[in-house]
Amino acid sequence: MKLCMIGTGYVGLVSGVCFSDVGNTVYCVDKDQKKIDLLNKGIVPIFEPGLEEILKKNYKQKRLIFTSNLKKAVTNSDIIFICVGTPSKKNANSANLKHIFSVVKDLKKIIKKYKIIITKSTVPVSTGDEIEKILINLKKKKLVDIVSNPEFLREGEAIRDFIYPDRIIIGTDSKKANKILKSLYLPIIKKTSRYFNTSRRAAELIKYASNAFLATKISFINEIANLCENAGVDVKDISLGMGSDERIGARFLRAGPGYGGSCFPKDTRALIDIGNKFKTDLTIVKTVTNSNNNRKKLLINKIKKILYGNFNNKIITFLGVTFKPNTDDMREAPSIPLIKYLNKKNSKIRYYDPSGEKVDFKGFKNVNYCSTISSACFKADLIILHTEWNDFKLLNFKKLTKKKKFKIYDMRNMYSPSTMKKLKIDYFGVGR
Ligand SMILES: NC(=O)c1ccc[n+]([C@@H]2O[C@H](COP(=O)([O-])OP(=O)(O)OC[C@H]3O[C@@H](n4cnc5c(N)ncnc54)[C@H](O)[C@@H]3O)[C@@H](O)[C@H]2O)c1
Repeated sequence: MKLCMIGTGYVGLVSGVCFSDVGNTVYCVDKDQKKIDLLNKGIVPIFEPGLEEILKKNYKQKRLIFTSNLKKAVTNSDIIFICVGTPSKKNANSANLKHIFSVVKDLKKIIKKYKIIITKSTVPVSTGDEIEKILINLKKKKLVDIVSNPEFLREGEAIRDFIYPDRIIIGTDSKKANKILKSLYLPIIKKTSRYFNTSRRAAELIKYASNAFLATKISFINEIANLCENAGVDVKDISLGMGSDERIGARFLRAGPGYGGSCFPKDTRALIDIGNKFKTDLTIVKTVTNSNNNRKKLLINKIKKILYGNFNNKIITFLGVTFKPNTDDMREAPSIPLIKYLNKKNSKIRYYDPSGEKVDFKGFKNVNYCSTISSACFKADLIILHTEWNDFKLLNFKKLTKKKKFKIYDMRNMYSPSTMKKLKIDYFGVGR
């Protein structure tokens, strides 16, 4: 089949590359010409394990075309996936749909032959209806079907998630579109039981409900971790004990610095706004977002306690700054407010992240990127293990700091408190 992915970010690029790998011809469009130029040189602009190899293979076979020419890409394709960003509006909970509607208005001018238009971007319930209103003339002429097909891949595991998805949700009442999309996805899912055809609004809501539920699990265990710290219990035992109950499940039940990233924070906020639009008070989701926001204050208080309130000139090293390992995505990473706060308090911040230096910290006088773990940790007063990259799991901190006295704040509970005690290292974890 001939596909067009509009927006070649984390979702559009990974989906496009994986669709091409099963034999489709895929046009990947982006308005960012720099991104397109890089991709045409075989350079992947994001950090996603395994992506480059599959991309290069399919580019060579001419099944992958990177272009900024929307008209050419759409005209040559049967199925159009909209994969542009839907961030929060400034100072508001609601999703900013300006990129979506800008694409739809362009499509209105281009489409002359039947196409399936799919929102793969996460969009609020009834966005498909809004799109249909804009394209009403094309719809009346049966030239378009507008479908919701939310994406559930996780950054860092995106290829595997796309090729072996837990489910494919297709929101449409068009039998024609459903039949075509089933044949598009069958080589990927193999088992038809994982393919669900729902109403378009249900598909849109499934995505938000799923993300809000996972965010709830994370916030829940984080609050239990707070209790554990006061009650002298290790939250890891709680996660294990709770997680082995199949009704609960072990995943997303690990205490840490709170959820971040490009999805959970903005999607939980948007769900609250959707609730308001449909006159429904989503108290649990509201509490979850509050709990996650409060977590940053809690972490700062903990660091204050660890340093006895003395931030001035302290060398504080962050190992990992991305919101999770195996991605370079910094959107709403907990490290950002923490580093900004510590910088204001005159601490000397160093950070190392396997995905490289971050623009988020450029221009801060006392925040420096180090290209190795050892240069980041040398003479540090406090090491904060912020992101659970594999690179940080077996470190000899004494050798790295070359200091007798230093402290570790392990925000991911990667190390054992008893081993640290034996090594006489001042060690603090989360909920233990
Ligand atoms: N990142 C994830 O892990 C993930 C997972 C599931 C769903 N989603 C959802 O998928 C959507 C995309 O997320 P992302 O992380 O891939 O975003 P992204 O910011 O990485 O990529 C979006 C891309 O769209 C491009 N773009 C914007 N307007 C355009 C236009 N008019 N024409 C062509 N290109 C345009 C941008 O230049 C950018 O490259 C969002 O709605 C997000 O919530 C993301």
